[in-house]
Amino acid sequence: MEQVRLDERAREILIRNDRGGYTVPNGRVYPFQWNWDSAFVSLGFAAMDIDRAWREIETLFAGQWEDGLLPHIIFWQDDAGYFPGPAVWATGRRPPTSGITQPPIAASAVLALWKASDPQRYRGQLKQLFPKILAWHRWFAQVRDPSGEGLAVIVHPWESGRDNSPEWDLPAQKIDTSNIGPYERRDTNHLDASMRPTRLDYDRYYALVQFGRALGWDQKRIGQTNPFRVVDVGTTMILLRANRDLLELARELGETQAAEQLQQRIEKAERGISWLWNEQLGAYCSRDVITGHSSGKVTSASFLSFYAGIQNPDRDRRLLQHLERIAGRVEYLVPSLDPEDAAFDSLRYWRGPVWAVVNFLISSGLASAGHAGWADRIRGDTHRLIEQSGMYENFCPVTGRGVGGDDFSWTAAMWLHWARDPSRDRKPAP
Ligand code: GLC
Repeated sequence: MEQVRLDERAREILIRNDRGGYTVPNGRVYPFQWNWDSAFVSLGFAAMDIDRAWREIETLFAGQWEDGLLPHIIFWQDDAGYFPGPAVWATGRRPPTSGITQPPIAASAVLALWKASDPQRYRGQLKQLFPKILAWHRWFAQVRDPSGEGLAVIVHPWESGRDNSPEWDLPAQKIDTSNIGPYERRDTNHLDASMRPTRLDYDRYYALVQFGRALGWDQKRIGQTNPFRVVDVGTTMILLRANRDLLELARELGETQAAEQLQQRIEKAERGISWLWNEQLGAYCSRDVITGHSSGKVTSASFLSFYAGIQNPDRDRRLLQHLERIAGRVEYLVPSLDPEDAAFDSLRYWRGPVWAVVNFLISSGLASAGHAGWADRIRGDTHRLIEQSGMYENFCPVTGRGVGGDDFSWTAAMWLHWARDPSRDRKPAP
């Protein structure tokens, strides 16, 4: 399909999935507002209608809790096609929400919107959003960083946004599923079960929801006692970048006190992230807080250190060696798991497929770190995937086939914002 047709298609998808102020990731499989999806989607809207782009983020923050948590789902209206719905989460909020969070992309999205907007017209919006984003980041620091080292602990695999990554296989074995009772998952009504998390994975997801609910969603206690507590390499890197972007916004607004706090948090994280480096493997990996074990897996999130602005020539060299090796094994970068890992499955959720949003983060990071060749390669691969298969949720890295839900909002958004024109933002080779 030529570029113009794809541009139109992407716009149509966003318009069709727009529910008035917020966008569903996909009308059938994901019929609510999802946290990091909305942040990416706002970038797509920015290419069509900047006002609507700001609105997406404003609606998202309407679901924020008083303690700062920004929930991973906001159930603006009920829908029987999804499990677990608002009655299962039972967080007692208005609007109803889930009780966990997702990777903090919002600050970085808002910085991008701010740069694309007329500052006279949108300063008010920025001023309103700034303290809310700051409160969310503070929540991460207070509730999800027990050792105060700039790391981000997740208490549910869904918080990582990489739901069934093999990084969670071992830590999730500690979750007791013996008393969860009967339930009916709905995702496999819409999609082929071979592409989705297994029954055992789902039992564990559900058990963790029950655990949080039993604690009345007391985030402090969940953070201390949850059976699943892992420092997610993806969330940690994304949070560091988000703090840098929020710092830029703080300076813009003359928020000097917030700027100082953010600066300190950034410096802590720059040091603390070394805990995630697995020297034997030569990659950044998630780590179980309870056992201290590194996952020992190279995933797409391992390459987000560039996006986080971490520079370390030795480590960078080793990461790029992995990328080169992986590029020799698959046709399209960046698979969500190393294709040489025994758990690799080219079609199963977060155990192999490529996601356009993750590619965007990795490629932007590589571009700003001066690795223009790799950045362009990843953008080009994303372009080809969408051109050949459409705006699917994710793609097989071997054949390029579209996997999961079709007409997916964030894939359409990534087309409009980034993948459509491989010559945009191209940086000269170092
Ligand atoms: C799945 C993905 C998650 C995403 C959600 C909605 O749960 O793993 O990252 O936010 O779908 O698209």
